[in-house]
Amino acid sequence: MPYELRKGQKAVNISVLCSGSGTNLQAIIDSVRSGYIPAKIALVVSDRKDAFALERAKKAGVETLVLNPKDFRSREDFDKEVVKNLRARNVGLVVLAGFMRLLSPYFIREYRNKIMNIHPALLPSFKGTCGIKDALEYGVKVTGPTVHFVDEELDHGPIILQRAVEIKEDDTPETLLERVHAEEHRIYPEAIKLFVEGRLKIEGRRVRII
Ligand code: GRF
Repeated sequence: MPYELRKGQKAVNISVLCSGSGTNLQAIIDSVRSGYIPAKIALVVSDRKDAFALERAKKAGVETLVLNPKDFRSREDFDKEVVKNLRARNVGLVVLAGFMRLLSPYFIREYRNKIMNIHPALLPSFKGTCGIKDALEYGVKVTGPTVHFVDEELDHGPIILQRAVEIKEDDTPETLLERVHAEEHRIYPEAIKLFVEGRLKIEGRRVRII
């Protein structure tokens, strides 16, 4: 569905980087299609050729690019190829959605304050790849997803949005994951919308919504 840009608003091309099933990518595709996010998904990049996210992109008519890390000498060389492809499509926002690779300092420099990530726990708690399981095992009563800007440290950059999810007595990693994911699919499109509308202002560690 077409959308109208507000006066003075510049169109933003976004790129989504994925390694897995791509449920967040799907939520973003749906939000662009409905006009909720006034942007274009210019490219979906994956480091795994079997990522289901690629099927979702193709079905939506979004261009895809698969790069095999084994074909590159270093992390930076891989990232240089990604950045080259993003620049060629005039990408102004990079969205990490289950992308299972650390970005090099080169990538972060090139897209400083223009890379977002979603983490399935309330940062700074439970960083790393097991945010759901770690929260459950620790025994916290509330957890939930965090959308943040990416900087040189893992799961560390300024926080854009968070949403609380209560942990129930009988939760398993699977039931909790389902509820956290449902919130992810709401707050990621919301954060992207705020960015492309120019409404996020970074002040040190704080992100103000203007
Ligand atoms: C999400 O749980 C997200 O928090 C984490 O990776 C997962 C990606 O899931 N960073 P999907 O591929 O979007 O379904």
